[in-house]
Amino acid sequence: MILEGSKADAIERAAQALADGELLGLPTETVYGLAANADNDAAVRAIFAAKGRPNDHPLIVHVAGAAGTADFAAEVPTLAHRLIDAFWPGPLTLILPRRAGVAEAAAAGHPGIAVRSPAHPVAQALLAACAARGIHGLAAPSANRFGRISPTTAAHVAGEFGNALLVLDGGACAVGIESAIVDLSRGAPTLLRPGQLSRAEIEAAAGCRLPSKDESSASPTPAPGTLAAHYAPRAKLRLMAPHELRAALQLLGDQARQLAVWSRTPLRSASHATVLRRMPDDAATAARQLFAVLRDFDNAGVKLIWVETPPTGDPAWEGIRDRLERAAAG
Ligand code: TXA
Ligand code: MG
Repeated sequence: MILEGSKADAIERAAQALADGELLGLPTETVYGLAANADNDAAVRAIFAAKGRPNDHPLIVHVAGAAGTADFAAEVPTLAHRLIDAFWPGPLTLILPRRAGVAEAAAAGHPGIAVRSPAHPVAQALLAACAARGIHGLAAPSANRFGRISPTTAAHVAGEFGNALLVLDGGACAVGIESAIVDLSRGAPTLLRPGQLSRAEIEAAAGCRLPSKDESSASPTPAPGTLAAHYAPRAKLRLMAPHELRAALQLLGDQARQLAVWSRTPLRSASHATVLRRMPDDAATAARQLFAVLRDFDNAGVKLIWVETPPTGDPAWEGIRDRLERAAAG
């Protein structure tokens, strides 16, 4: 059931459901999460079951602010404080050494714990109502079935899990792609997942370079839960340059059916059945639309999705490029 997130009684009802060990569809500024009380291992295990997520893929714990890290992290290094001061509340997740014995199920047994303070006002109101009930944090992955497209509206969440799930409606997500993740728990700080915040912005606040997980030699084992194939629509997705798109559309001619195209370059198809949509030139707007566009294409029943390759070398597009490359690998 979808509840209007701006209403105080909806927040109270949602907080009580979480205190009772139930799951909740949670709006954040990045994407919607599927939340449970992070200290309730049984409730957290129900998230894994609902998503069909492998149980060694750890979840992010959402806290109200900087003070909340102390409940879950064994230590908060100086570098973490710098990043928290610069970006919280906001779309940045930090992996810190985990406090012994806490959030065991959310961390999937890993020695680190991922924490983030969401900027969405409904999420903040909910965290306050949760604190009043003794809940310190909310474990929440993106509210989609494992490997599928992340949800950016309450209706997407209801579509994934059905109407039995309580969902707080906070409107369409302002950022649209998941938070950037910086690992501060295993040697040299590493950017595990790019987001709306660019590497350059995070490095400027950190005061040091931040290798990505591919460049980093400090982490001998891959970070848990980072897969090459992810965020996949049902249709087969391909990234293509403008000249490839033009040539392929020309080749198909009026046979270009069950095909959707998302491109910054204006294109034409000889077939009225081709779904053509323009990708915004601005990275922030494109990110906000990305997952909803992929869902629309799937709902249109297309078999192929062709997407114009995002600009390379422009840090603003790094997060979008990452999601599209993984969707193409799926
Ligand atoms: O924006 C977001 O981050 C959204 C909203 C709901 O906050 N959440 C989200 O969660 O994207 P999820 O589960 O889809 O992605 C979390 C990723 C995992 O796939 C994993 O790569 C990483 O965070 N992660 C979490 N805990 C970790 C840990 N202890 N060690 C290493 N990586 C971890
Ligand atoms: Mg996810």
